[in-house]
Amino acid sequence: MHIPSLIESKREGGELSREQISGLIAAFTRGDMPDYQMSALAMAIFFKGMSGAETTALTEAMLHSGSVLQWPEAAPMRVDKHSTGGIGDKTSLVLAPLLACDGVWVPMISGRGLGITGGTLDKLESIPGFRTQFSESEIYKTLPITGCLMVGQTANICPADKKLYALRDVTGTVQSIPLITASILCKKLAEGLNRLILDVKYGSGAFMQTESQAHELAQSLVTVGRALGVRASVRLSCMDEATGESAGNALEVIECVRCLQGQGPPDLEALVLDLACAVSISSRAELAKMLRDGRAWAKFQQMVEVQGGKADSLEQMQNIHRVPVIHEMKATASGRLMKLDAGTLGRAVLELGAGRVLASDPVDPTVGVDQLRKVGQEIHVGEVLLRIHARSQAAAEAAEKRILTGILIE
Ligand code: URA
Repeated sequence: MHIPSLIESKREGGELSREQISGLIAAFTRGDMPDYQMSALAMAIFFKGMSGAETTALTEAMLHSGSVLQWPEAAPMRVDKHSTGGIGDKTSLVLAPLLACDGVWVPMISGRGLGITGGTLDKLESIPGFRTQFSESEIYKTLPITGCLMVGQTANICPADKKLYALRDVTGTVQSIPLITASILCKKLAEGLNRLILDVKYGSGAFMQTESQAHELAQSLVTVGRALGVRASVRLSCMDEATGESAGNALEVIECVRCLQGQGPPDLEALVLDLACAVSISSRAELAKMLRDGRAWAKFQQMVEVQGGKADSLEQMQNIHRVPVIHEMKATASGRLMKLDAGTLGRAVLELGAGRVLASDPVDPTVGVDQLRKVGQEIHVGEVLLRIHARSQAAAEAAEKRILTGILIE
């Protein structure tokens, strides 16, 4: 295999074979293909794209660059969800225990927040003692007990993706449909799934800004997922407004606890049920019952305990994560709330300290926003539009100033 010729072929719009792609990824994973060659290839893919067959081969090669979880023949069906990320998107914390109540297994390997979108692992780590780093043998031992697990990627899962994503991040090659498809799917397929629902977001608070970009990504994810043997389906959702009524790590856990106790905001509960229906064997009505009668809440508490967390802290999160300043942001006009822009809100929450700019940055579990009013609601002047949880008055005021630029009341 002559690597420069393969890069040139892609640069000229040629189609690489499955064997060539698998050879390139294997060489890169072993360290025999230097970063500068892989960066050049990523840029060629960025400009020339990949056929469906190439994207499938790339996903497969990245999947097999590390270990793939193997489950016994008689094990329950494995299902999962992947979201392309958004503001206040906390659905995984409710969905995984709900699906586990349905008798399927959910071996959910999740990520951390980067930029304006939050990450499931960061949210869960605001629960005292909760452990997100599990070895593969711990995963095999624990999943049959709980039916759901929410852990980080192990060192052995998709090492090619870890290396390639780090390069894409610094070479302007993140926004490529085939590269995104392979990166997302290889990690999900490594869980040994039968069914996968993909929640592809678009809008101001999403990775994909337009519905047509989201549609293109969705199409690619479903086609490649199915080609690799998983029953993949997709839901497009608009992320011009945050999901639910909070954004921030501990604040989102508090909201999920409410949802698991049957008192979640309607938009969050509806999204969870839509996603659950896509991979479940039960009807929407049955799933809604499991969510409202305490079964999903009991399952979540069991999962928290099994992962080292203290379930009795879940209803005490407000006291555990006390923040020095809670600032009420009030409406300066009456009318209908036309916009509470998710992208602007996400940037404010990031600047409060809830997110990270670099993958190595720490996150503050306590800060964020809650009691968010929803687009379409009637607002009266002086009413609370949202609350800002901040480390200082100055930080709260800076957040308010930013959030104000994304609010429209008419
Ligand atoms: N998320 C991923 O895991 N990979 C991408 O390339 C983009 C989003």
